Parts: sequence; C-alpha cells; structure tokens
Amino acid sequence: MNHEMNSRMNPQMNSQMNPQMNQEMVNPVMNKEMNSPMNEVMVNQEKMGMKDENIMKIVDELNICLANLNILFIKLHNFHWNVVGMGFFDMHEKTQELYEQVALMLDTVAEKIRMYGYNPLASMQSYLKVGTIKEAPSENINATTIANIIEEDFEHMLMGARKLDEMAKDTMDECLINIIADAMCFYQKNIWMMNAYKTR
Ligand SMILES: [Fe+2]
Repeated sequence: MNHEMNSRMNPQMNSQMNPQMNQEMVNPVMNKEMNSPMNEVMVNQEKMGMKDENIMKIVDELNICLANLNILFIKLHNFHWNVVGMGFFDMHEKTQELYEQVALMLDTVAEKIRMYGYNPLASMQSYLKVGTIKEAPSENINATTIANIIEEDFEHMLMGARKLDEMAKDTMDECLINIIADAMCFYQKNIWMMNAYKTR
C-alpha cells in the first residue's frame, strides 16, 4: 500500500527513480492532489534532517489519518443531529465537543504534511478512497449506540496513531511525536468516557 500511495503522491520522484514507470497507472485524482514540487520536498526534507523514504512512509500514514479525521468530522455531526431518546442532551453536546476537537486535529495533520513538503489530500473523494473509518447513515440513533460506535472508531484511530508512533520514533522529529502523543491522549480519554457512559 505504501509503495502504491507513494507512487501516486510524488510521480516526479517516482519517475526519477524508475523512468520506465507508466504514468497512466497513476490515479489522476490522487496524482493531482498529492503531487508536490520536487525542490520543495527536497528543501523541506533537508531542513528536517530526515531521509525521504522515511518521510514518504510517514506522509502516507498521515494522509490516512487526515482522511479518517475528515470522515469522523462528518460522522460526529451526523450523530449530533440524529441523536434521540435518553441521553440526548449529553450526547448532543459531547459530539459537538468532539467534532470541534477533530477539526483542530485534522488541520494540524494537514499542516504537518505541508512541513514535509507535500500537499495533503484535500477532497472528500480522496478521503473516502484512502480512509478506513466507515461513514454512518443519516437516521435516528440512540446515545448508547453512538457511544459504542465512537468507542470503536477511536480504538481504530488509536491503532493508527500507534503505527505512526513506531515510525516517528526513528525520526527524532519531536514535533511529529508530540502531535501523535496528543492524539493518543485524546482517543484514550474519550474511549474511557464512552465506555463509562454505557455502563449502567
Ligand atoms: Fe449544533
């Protein structure tokens, strides 16, 4: 997956490494969105003191994280609007708190991708293609079911954050490590809260 994504993300770099590469194989949507000027990538990576193959793997993971955060942003709005029954006021308010926090996190992730010299994914089409969080239908839903879904989704996000954390450890990039650590605290705290909310 990483190799495939990297090919789409930076066709200029790819064609330099592999001149025989068939450019028609590159997805035009991803290609257009994820391409970055080669000099910008090189200059930024030199400043970061990191090898480009490490950065490309991290950017792949950050884009998956960005896609999932965007899907969650909509999904939390969905729950905010469609919650019914016991616990309405609690969950209506809580989902707003969560989507406001998710909005800040997705911006942080996208800007981190820019710091590495790449363009972050920036369309719903690409988020749905790359994201691993499922959307929810727009229908009435009770607060306990919402708590279950949020708990599961945040556990999934936590696994993604752990994967990124493993990759980040080798980089000495404390900025990236802090972003991941903050995200892990956010997911852990809300997994606990959703679990406690369901306990009767
Ligand atoms: Fe609202």
